[in-house]
Amino acid sequence: MSSNRILIFDTTLRDGEQSPGASLNVHEKLEIAHQLAKLKVDVIEAGFPVSSPAQFEAVKRIADEVDAIIAGLSRANEKDIKAAADSLYSAPRKRIHTFSSTSDYHILGKFGHERYGSTLQEKRKTILKMSYDAVAYAKTFTDDVEFSAEDAGRTDIGYLAEVIETAIEAGAATVNIPDTTGYTLPFEYGEKIAELKRRVKNIDKAIISVHCHNDLGLAVANSISAVQNGARQVECTINGIGERAGNASLEEFVMALNVRKDLLNYYANINTHEIYNTSKMVSAFTGMLVQRNKAIVGENAFSHESGIHQDGVLKNRETYEIMTPESVGIINNKIVLGRHSGRHGLKSRLEQLGYKVSEEELQHIYDAFTELADKKKEVFDDDLRMLMGDEIQKKDEIYELVYLQVHTGTNSIPNAVVRIKIGDRVIEEAATGDGSVDAVFNSIERALGIKSEVESYQVRSVTSGREAMGEVLVRIRSGGKSFTGRGISTDIIEASAKSYLSALNQKEQYAKEVETLNQNEKLSEVI
Ligand code: KIV
Ligand code: ZN
Repeated sequence: MSSNRILIFDTTLRDGEQSPGASLNVHEKLEIAHQLAKLKVDVIEAGFPVSSPAQFEAVKRIADEVDAIIAGLSRANEKDIKAAADSLYSAPRKRIHTFSSTSDYHILGKFGHERYGSTLQEKRKTILKMSYDAVAYAKTFTDDVEFSAEDAGRTDIGYLAEVIETAIEAGAATVNIPDTTGYTLPFEYGEKIAELKRRVKNIDKAIISVHCHNDLGLAVANSISAVQNGARQVECTINGIGERAGNASLEEFVMALNVRKDLLNYYANINTHEIYNTSKMVSAFTGMLVQRNKAIVGENAFSHESGIHQDGVLKNRETYEIMTPESVGIINNKIVLGRHSGRHGLKSRLEQLGYKVSEEELQHIYDAFTELADKKKEVFDDDLRMLMGDEIQKKDEIYELVYLQVHTGTNSIPNAVVRIKIGDRVIEEAATGDGSVDAVFNSIERALGIKSEVESYQVRSVTSGREAMGEVLVRIRSGGKSFTGRGISTDIIEASAKSYLSALNQKEQYAKEVETLNQNEKLSEVI
């Protein structure tokens, strides 16, 4: 491999999924993983297998089906590592990614218990040993082991160098230096990488990776600075999603390398033409909208508002554009589907948008598509993405909306009637509310006998025009966790009902997972 090649390690399905409210079901993860393979990322971090049965299952399914190096995260202990190894078993190319905390903040905060030592020095020694043992154990399952020093950005350089040297000695092929809290500045972080290259005597035996969070908006700048100082793997996510302010955005980092090859003599193997489809898919499945002015993939990234700019671009695009929309896969698609479009046309359009559709899925989507095409004359790509998202979301659904009726008016009290299917049962309930949406939510709560706190409610139109489809995102909070539901319809009240039910479905699935986890834990205590 050329020494200027930068490996792209995508963690959308692991760190990205840790964004508050962004949970994805197994089917959505699988679809995204296939798209990431099309984008040609080198490594897909598919999840944190030990953390729940659903995470384990998702990593396993991706390992079974997707062609890339598939990574599973684990803390530095045998139970986590074994779970990662088991979930990755069938992957032809697998990586176990194990991590230890290395900054004083983390050591004192997370390893405060006496059993790790009574002084900071003793605790550091314990972590050094844990790191060595974790890498050595992971190596019994695969040669491809990555070690991360969590909060390396705030870790004392002397200790960091010692931990990294130890991890390489134990066999780590990749050593990751995360700026976990997004604290460092580009020159400082670059210098940290350069200093590690100077201090760690076996550093040439491993690839240096970087993983930057965006708390100060510097994640991509820090990643570039690290590359200039010797890092050869960059960890990032689609649309920059991730814990808190997110991770380095894949599309921004990759396009910075592409556009500024004059100064950055490095390259990644990414198929940039798949960037836009991937961004849209991740946004549709996670319910995390991309801000309009987001670099590369935001709605305004290639629009020119002022007359002077429009005139300039018409005369010569390069006046105000440093890359073309086509280079990231934004094509001004003139083909619009309508009620006379057939199944074949629909399937090939969905495939062009990056979706893999089975015959059964196609039948469902085709039915939804013809229903939509009856309501609105033209069906656009964004409508299709929403239909696809809806279809995949429904696969794990526990509650299904089968009927909705709403009465409202200027001088009347809004009321709603819902019928919800749960397995073989159908429950009907009615309720009033402050407004139609409130009445719908109240009737759903009454039917299911639950109450939940609505954290946020957002409505947006998927495309333009008065018959456009509306998307509603409802975020609810329960047991200290957020769940975002999505619902689509040309009627926003119906979309609201679907969205609320979708959030409740996720909450229910999560509760089931926790129950299974507890049962497994009890079982392992008995055994
Ligand atoms: O931010 C971080 O430090 C992480 C590690 C687990 C790599 O996500
Ligand atoms: Zn992270």
